Amino acid sequence: QNARESLYIVSEFAASYFANELWTGNDGRAIGLSYFKERGFREDILKKFQLGYSPDIWDALIQSAAGAGHKEEYLEKTGLAIRNDKGKLYDRFRGRVMFPIHNFTGRVIGFGGRTLKTDKNVPKYVNSPESDIYHKSNVLYGLYHAKKAIRDLDNCYLVEGYADVLAVHQAGIENVVASSGTSLTTEQIRLIGRFTQNVTILYDGDAAGIKASLRGLDMILEEGLNVKVVLFPDGHDPDSYMHHVGSGEFKKYIEENRRDFILYKANILLKEAGTDPIKRAGIIRDIIESIAKIPDDIKAAVFVRECSNLLQVEERILLSELNKMRVAKL
Ligand code: UTP
Ligand code: MN
Ligand code: MN
Ligand code: MN
Ligand code: MN
Repeated sequence: QNARESLYIVSEFAASYFANELWTGNDGRAIGLSYFKERGFREDILKKFQLGYSPDIWDALIQSAAGAGHKEEYLEKTGLAIRNDKGKLYDRFRGRVMFPIHNFTGRVIGFGGRTLKTDKNVPKYVNSPESDIYHKSNVLYGLYHAKKAIRDLDNCYLVEGYADVLAVHQAGIENVVASSGTSLTTEQIRLIGRFTQNVTILYDGDAAGIKASLRGLDMILEEGLNVKVVLFPDGHDPDSYMHHVGSGEFKKYIEENRRDFILYKANILLKEAGTDPIKRAGIIRDIIESIAKIPDDIKAAVFVRECSNLLQVEERILLSELNKMRVAKL
């Protein structure tokens, strides 16, 4: 048995341990399970994603792992346990609801743990560190459970958070993943590209989410994939919005508010610019910058035409701007 295999095994042990605590532990049921239920998550979703609860004890997992014959070494190497400067080992995750992170073959490689406290000084999520089996930049949360639907439906919804993946799934939309623990990476986009060429961004409808969506769509275009975006109202994220309006309305909202990236970007930038002509000129340049990232010339030309219609600028001018940017990039 090689070293990596041992890390998978101890991670899978931990996932089972946390899940068992959630469904059968006193605190797990009273605190963890009630928490998920209050948020509106169904039991079948909690089970499907192997959600769990880490008891609020310094070494609950360590003790249980020792009892089952797992070496401390592997708990440390996966970051499930941390050794302090006095040499004492303690659990990384305590008193949190647990989201196991699977690789795309379904093996457990890490965890996100959410606090149940509302105290602003406590980090909302604690995540596993990088390890020999967990390279955050190459992992998409939910991909194992989504990959078949992504292929069948030829589209991948991209959300920000763990809870968003669960909520969108619960609404009956299974082709959804999150770039959790990091901001979106090129590796993650290439991973999606193995299953589909079409991405729909469903980020949080707050300033941070909008900013991240603009960055994300440029990265997706650069990898040659097609990208659309749905903006959620009043600071909602997919999870809060789904539970706010229900799954039927949620699906309808996504269908009706899916925008191609030019329209999305134009709407956001136009709102910011108002009627100032200099700012409006800046927007045109900004959108052409996104189009310049598209490797396929024919696709780019189609978007130039759309941009020309939308912003009432001659295509010829847009094309010359596009060519300047492409030359500058070389
Ligand atoms: P959000 O702050 O939007 O959280 O961060 P959320 O997913 O909506 O969480 P809930 O609904 O309050 O439970 C989005 C994602 O960023 C990562 C997590 O992956 C989270 O799901 N994150 C956020 C962290 O890793 N650490 C944090 O402290 C906060
Ligand atoms: Mn890495
Ligand atoms: Mn957010
Ligand atoms: Mn959120
Ligand atoms: Mn949320």
